[in-house]
Amino acid sequence: MQICVIPGDGIGPEVMAVATAALRALAPDMTLTEAEAGWGVFQRTGVALPAETLAAARSATAILFGAVASPSHPVPGYRSPIVELRRALDLYANIRPTTGPGVDLVVVRENTEDLYSGRERLEDDGNTAIAERVITRTASARIARTACELARSRQAAGHPGKVTIVHKANVLRLSDGLFRAVAFEVAADYPDLTFEERLVDVAAMQLAAQPQRFDVIVTTNLFGDILSDIACIHGGGLGVAASSNLGHGQALFEPVHGAAPDIAGRGIANPTAALNCVVMLLEWLGRLPAAERLRQAMAEVAADDIATPDVGGNATTREVADALLERLTTAQV
Ligand code: NAI
Ligand code: MG
Repeated sequence: MQICVIPGDGIGPEVMAVATAALRALAPDMTLTEAEAGWGVFQRTGVALPAETLAAARSATAILFGAVASPSHPVPGYRSPIVELRRALDLYANIRPTTGPGVDLVVVRENTEDLYSGRERLEDDGNTAIAERVITRTASARIARTACELARSRQAAGHPGKVTIVHKANVLRLSDGLFRAVAFEVAADYPDLTFEERLVDVAAMQLAAQPQRFDVIVTTNLFGDILSDIACIHGGGLGVAASSNLGHGQALFEPVHGAAPDIAGRGIANPTAALNCVVMLLEWLGRLPAAERLRQAMAEVAADDIATPDVGGNATTREVADALLERLTTAQV
């Protein structure tokens, strides 16, 4: 089985080194192939997502992605490789779970369209910039269905079976109006679930203040990006939050965090989000005992107060990794 590993930039390689070491210990039969993407490779070669990387990702069963640094100013020829990868592989569902005290929710984010469709232009006078927001029936229906199926499977495990449809259809009447209408059409196929809707601003406030109200949230791409960062506060922050991008028999797992240039190279990046990606990967592959072993080892390391500064500890990435790998290798004998 081929797993394509794309470490990326900044802390991406630092946390991916820990994740791949854990994966090698837990699943020695897997073949891990490394591929480049991001700002570093763009600066060297002028290409952010090389054709070989896309080919390696396409032919892999699953992809582990670290993080890439994307400049916030326009750079000719540069597009965020993660956004490209999600679209090229049609990884249409971004699943972002958060668990914490009293909180167990999942943000299901549409991953292929909306304002991230890349259709931006500058008017000739240079003073007006226009971005097109693309919402389609097809993409809205499949993400709504993904959310409903997830809510149903969670319900079987004791969760409330509730889906919150988040939009801004009161202002964006056509685009979010379509998303909302299609989501409720899909909802009609799930009489066993409960549905509610929230405008995105109210959803943001409630997600910050009363996260325990939510079970499964389904929303468009940009809103999902923002809401999932809010949600992850309740699970320990960006150093912990992992996500999966699901497509057609293929999946890409990535931390919610970015390249963290403020701490890159200092050896203090929290590898937990990347390790949670490995847990999600193993679960997706149906390797539940291995996933549980990793979960257990991570819990033991945390219980020993071996943790990075972002979650209140004073350990380095290396110390967390060593403690974890020691548990993983001794647990095996
Ligand atoms: P960021 O997620 O990289 O960092 C935000 C804050 O959280 C920083 O203070 C950082 O030090 C901290 N943080 C993040 N991950 C951490 C970890 N594992 N351990 C400890 N602290 C952690 O977001 P930011 O700063 O807005 O973006 C930095 C760069 O990353 C930008 O170039 C952006 O484009 C890129 N980015 C890439 C993403 C991806 O590859 N999927 C996602 C988000 C941002
Ligand atoms: Mg984000």
